[in-house]
Amino acid sequence: MEGLKVLVIGSGGREHALVWKIAQSKLVSKVYAAPGNPGIAKLAECFEIKADDIEGLAGLAGMVDADLVVVGPEVPLALGITDRLAKDGRKVFGPCKECARLESSKAFSKQVMIEAGVPTGKASIFENAAEAMRALDKAEGPLVVKLDGLAAGKGVVVAETPEEASLALSRLEIMQPGGRIILEERLEGVETSLLCLCDGIRALPLMPAKDYKRALDGDKGHNTGGMGSVAPSPFVSMGQAEELAELTVVPVLKKLAEKGLHYRGVLYAGLMLTQEGPKVLEYNCRFGDPETQAVLPLMEDDLVEIMLEACEGRMERESIRFKDGASVCVVMASKGYPEMYDKGFKIELPKDDEIEEGVVIFHAGTMQDCLYRLATSGGRVLAISALGKDVNEATGKAYRIADRVQCANLFTRSDIGSGRKK
Ligand code: AMP
Ligand code: GLY
Repeated sequence: MEGLKVLVIGSGGREHALVWKIAQSKLVSKVYAAPGNPGIAKLAECFEIKADDIEGLAGLAGMVDADLVVVGPEVPLALGITDRLAKDGRKVFGPCKECARLESSKAFSKQVMIEAGVPTGKASIFENAAEAMRALDKAEGPLVVKLDGLAAGKGVVVAETPEEASLALSRLEIMQPGGRIILEERLEGVETSLLCLCDGIRALPLMPAKDYKRALDGDKGHNTGGMGSVAPSPFVSMGQAEELAELTVVPVLKKLAEKGLHYRGVLYAGLMLTQEGPKVLEYNCRFGDPETQAVLPLMEDDLVEIMLEACEGRMERESIRFKDGASVCVVMASKGYPEMYDKGFKIELPKDDEIEEGVVIFHAGTMQDCLYRLATSGGRVLAISALGKDVNEATGKAYRIADRVQCANLFTRSDIGSGRKK
């Protein structure tokens, strides 16, 4: 099978990395993206259709006659893009709406984990914040308060005291009035992410990566989407990832399959490595951002080949192959992110001949301004990914290139990998 047309949905750094890897596939003749961004536009033909415009995207997939559609963000999956496109006979790498509830409903996810016998924290589910509030009196120990539905990373509060939990409930009630609430025991340990490509039954882990979630050095400041990433993870080897997949992902695929649901796409397990063993905090139905920007440059195999196997339920290979060495991704974000920030600042990227070998500048929140200059348009603006023989070398390269990006309103953490060299 050659000459395939692939449509990638989304506009972030993760989608730029996906497009970059997909465009290298020997099977692919043309890549499209919706809506894409100025970096993606160098590799793919972009269409101004938003990632939540399901009918618009279905129309586009038909117009370009896409052989494969790859869905980046969770929102279109939760809205049922896969089911809609399947009606037209299209192959989609991304789970159906019911399977995507593993991310879009934390109550559903918890229920599946329990049914599948996957280790996870003890939790109670409440129909609304008022019910959860009444239960706080009887609660013991620190709690994690979670909104049931999608909340763009803002629906979870780790509360030290019942007072903090009560405040969190009030805030979540304002965010999503009447929304279901989960109160969960707080788990202690090292957090790690496990991302698997799944074909409905089988799960192949990607190389584990470390994500830097907090905005500031030393893991201080607000939680963000991720300020950088390093692969391989210093905490989880590839062998351990396979064991973790057997424990935390495969049983879920089996349980869904028993219900007639075939999970085809990425299943991303957020794990806490506790003293009692690994426990699942949450599932996501998509690639991680910025883990993807670090992991895909290390991937040896043809991603499209594996995605097709996954979509067709025939992923029989033993494992996914990765290069030796390490990959580091440094995110450049708008000053103020993840809170308020201004947009529209001009960006000047280093010239092609200044970019060291093994470095890729992935675009996330970039746009072309009215003078067709590159400018900032979001919180996370660029993701600088660098390959090296080890983390140290990759880190040095990533920061050297980040330091050459000219923009008046960007910041980075300076301790991604082993940190910016002085
Ligand atoms: P979630 O969206 O469920 O992954 O939650 C977001 C973040 O909240 C996680 O990455 C953890 O840092 C934290 N978190 C969630 N659940 C727990 C838990 N049960 N114990 C401790 N931290 C948690
Ligand atoms: N980097 C965390 C996420 O993609 O959810």
